[in-house]
Amino acid sequence: MGPGTRQIKIKADSEPVTPSARSRVDPFLAMDVLDRANALGRAGRTVFHLEAGQPGTPAPQRALDAAQTALRGESLGYTESLGRPALRERIARYYRETHRVDIAPERVVITTGSSAGFLLAFISLFEAGQSLALAVPGYPAYRNIAQALDLKPHFIPCREAEQFRLTADAIGQARGIDGVLIASPSNPCGTVISPDDLAAIVDVCAVRKVSLISDEIYHGIAYGGRAQTALAYSRDVVVINSFSKYYSMTGWRIGWMVVPDDLVRTIERLTQSFYISPPTISQVAALAALDAADELDGHVRTYAANRSRLLAALQDAGFGSVAPADGAFYLYASVAPFGMDSATMAKRLLEEAGVAATPGHDFDPFEGDQWIRFSYAGAQNEVDAAAHALVAWCRNVRR
Ligand SMILES: Cc1ncc(COP(=O)(O)O)c(C=O)c1O
Repeated sequence: MGPGTRQIKIKADSEPVTPSARSRVDPFLAMDVLDRANALGRAGRTVFHLEAGQPGTPAPQRALDAAQTALRGESLGYTESLGRPALRERIARYYRETHRVDIAPERVVITTGSSAGFLLAFISLFEAGQSLALAVPGYPAYRNIAQALDLKPHFIPCREAEQFRLTADAIGQARGIDGVLIASPSNPCGTVISPDDLAAIVDVCAVRKVSLISDEIYHGIAYGGRAQTALAYSRDVVVINSFSKYYSMTGWRIGWMVVPDDLVRTIERLTQSFYISPPTISQVAALAALDAADELDGHVRTYAANRSRLLAALQDAGFGSVAPADGAFYLYASVAPFGMDSATMAKRLLEEAGVAATPGHDFDPFEGDQWIRFSYAGAQNEVDAAAHALVAWCRNVRR
């Protein structure tokens, strides 16, 4: 030790660290199932991955080519916090071409996946303690992020009795809410909100002066007509989207928001401190992915074939009701006929049949033990083989 240096003593028995109450959110069971499924796979078992909500395909070829060129020729430093202007402009063009809606590129914010979009939206729209209406069942991160930010989730049941749909009426009847989050197509039900119903939801939110956030991450993946954007009815909504699903780029962690003019600078200040900027290489790839509809629409045709195959298998296997599945790539099915809860069923399905699926508790903390979610975003042959294994196991269990 040199002169003037002091020895730092590290306590042998450190105090246990108590996490804050707001940070104690539920685990994401789909990811826990994924971990176990991967462990079985590493041990040499054949595992069919119907648990994770992600395409089995890589990013489109154009995106990969653009990323490779950028790796060789660009320094890939930080970008503008709101994202590269060329990408923001291209997304504005997407709305003009796909939905005939004019959006100023300045209102487009590039984010680190849509997950970052929720954080930015919730913080910029709500004070701690305010209440956010959420459909149940719904994507679990909504309630977990809300809880971590000290917001109060206000759950609106959208189960079989409600035809799995969040309606303007139900929002109109919800007392004491400050915001509403809708998703169309939704996870886990695949429900698509019709243009008329969406317009009515936008109206009721405007009349009640509550903020509306529209999660449009599954846009592009619908089986009975394109889902409409909430931007078609209002400039005051916050729309959240991503390159994870239709664009097949989950691991690139890149998404976007469209926000009202008044929120742009607020969100810019937040994102400067939270993330500095979205990943540069992913912005390059995303820009190219927006011109890859030919390849990506091919994936949607695969999902459609998988959906039919798996729907037939669920019927053969003896499952109960299945939510409509008009979009996204999930089937949410009742396990009631099996006389076991969905956590038990998911565990046994994985261990005994090698089929990984997500118990409904992730999406519905109240009645989710009666439901299970299957993702059919994988390759056709994998979904076929999974369907086969599922039917065989279920028949055996019900015998
Ligand atoms: C409805 C919904 N929204 C948002 C996300 C988050 O996606 P990402 O952060 O990859 O954009 C998911 C992921 O499964 C989802 O299902």
